[in-house]
Parts: sequence; structure tokens; C-alpha cells
Amino acid sequence: MSKKMISLNQLNKKELENILSNISKFKKNKYTNKYSGKVIGLLFEKFSTRTRLSFESAISKLGAYPLFINKNDTQLSRGESIAETARMFSLYMDTLIFRTNSHAKLVKFEDNSSIPVINALSDFEHPTQIISDIYTIKEYFNKKPLNKIKIVYVGDSNNIANSFAYAAMSLKLNMTFCCPNKYNKSIKKILKNNSSIDITDDLIYASSKADVIYTDVWTSMGMEKENKVRLKDFKNFQINAKIMSNTNKKSVFMHCLPAHINEEVTEEVINSQKSIIYKQAENKLFAAMAVIDYVLS
Ligand code: CP
Ligand code: NVA
Repeated sequence: MSKKMISLNQLNKKELENILSNISKFKKNKYTNKYSGKVIGLLFEKFSTRTRLSFESAISKLGAYPLFINKNDTQLSRGESIAETARMFSLYMDTLIFRTNSHAKLVKFEDNSSIPVINALSDFEHPTQIISDIYTIKEYFNKKPLNKIKIVYVGDSNNIANSFAYAAMSLKLNMTFCCPNKYNKSIKKILKNNSSIDITDDLIYASSKADVIYTDVWTSMGMEKENKVRLKDFKNFQINAKIMSNTNKKSVFMHCLPAHINEEVTEEVINSQKSIIYKQAENKLFAAMAVIDYVLS
């Protein structure tokens, strides 16, 4: 059976910890031809800079061939089903990296293919981003045990928050989610049986003594129609200098990017010394290598 990577719900603590420690190995030995002769497809229904480029680059560095598939050139765009496409792709490639507007499509693809499918972002999860970001947190705080680092996610309970919630449960992270009440449904559902992870709408309480403040856009791709309402609903959830001054002295600011500057985060904070956004972006390459290695090994 193929390894699973469409949801962090599919990975146990040990599997996640192994991937995290392999990221370090790939970061030290940047190039390896371990997967020479393999073909890895990339199918993206939504825009991407970091995820697409880091995966394409990771595939090349692993010695495999990155096959970018333009959906509009395939029969998918003329109505051929996901199930049939999955059966066909399984004949020609060894793994598919899929970014989609519908998590259900990923599930359908996985159910009908004989190759591993890596979720490169869906409307419900962004697992490879969170694996990479947890590695960045571990790397930055170096000797501090992961579960002693206070991580605060502020914003929408979107794909980033959902993957974080699954990882927080499995790795027993010291984590708080701070969302407007109207926008916390999805993480509330994921965390329903977990009393040790906080959900609040009080940003001053949540950010107090935080080691990591992580935020994401208020309006994710595909939700643009809600933008006006969301700008209003989230206006008190902006990460600014006042919020950062409420955190630990050695705290950091994180964002998966792309950011809507001066909405969820001020220009001052995202460009400050505390911001580790470029470390996050850089580590996506090594995380991509470790994730491919996980599904193919
Ligand atoms: N963080 C992230 O997934 O960025 P892209 O949308 O540019 O891939
Ligand atoms: N929540 C964002 C993440 C982008 C990487 C979105 O889905 O648009």
C-alpha cells in the first residue's frame, strides 16, 4: 500500500518525527541521486511559488524527473474523471504532488491510484508546509524541547491551522489557536477530544509569553468573495508591534507566505529581526526532499 501524505491525520508521532529528523539530513547533504529513474508529477490547480518551486527543485536534487502537468492540456479539463485520471497517472509516474481547490479530489485521487499522492495544499490542509515549519521551529530554538515552545497560531482556521492542529495533537505541542469565534469551527472539530490545546479569541491572552507567533492570510485562495467581510471580522487579529511586545523576549514571527502586508501582519513586524519567514521558505526545499523520501521509501 502507498504511504499517505494528504493529511497530517494520516501520520503518527513516530512517522512525523522521522520526517523531521530526515529534513536535517537532507539539509546537510544537499544533493543525492537516491531516486534516479523515478518520475514525479506535479498537478497544480491553484497558484504557487514556494511549494511548486521547492518540490520541483527537491525532485531534481533527488535525481528524479519533475513532470509538471498543465491541467488545461489534460483531459481533466474536458471532464475526464479524477478516478480515471488517477488510474492513468499511476501508469506513468511514481508519485503525484497535487495542489487542489477541493480536498475531496485528493481523497478521490488517493483512493483510485496505486502511487503515493502528496497534498501540496488543499482547501482543508497544507501538511508539507506545517512539517517544514515545525522543523524550522525546532531548528531555531535548537536545544529547547519542542513541547516546551509556546506556539500561537493567530487567524483563520484554514488549511494551515488545520494541519497545525493535527500536528499539535500528534506531537503534543504547547499550542494555542487564536481565532475570531465565527472562524474557529474547523479546528474546534479537529481538536474536539483534546483539552490541552487552547482555542481562544483573546489575542492579548494568547500572545502573552509566546515563543512563536504564526499567522496566515485572512482570505485564502478561493475565498476572495468573502474578503470584505473578513477584513472587518479579523481587524483585531493583526500581528503588530504591540502584540509582539507582549510575547517572550526571544520570540519569533512566522508566516507561510504569501502575506497580505498590513492586513494580518504589519510591514514593521514582517520585516523585523523577529521575522523568520525566509528560514521557513528555505526549509521548504529540504522538507520537500524528506517528504518525497518518506512516500517513496
Ligand atoms: N507557502 C506556500 O505554500 O506558498 P505558495 O503558495 O507560494 O506555494
Ligand atoms: N491559507 C493560504 C495558504 C497559502 C500558502 C491559502 O490557502 O491561500
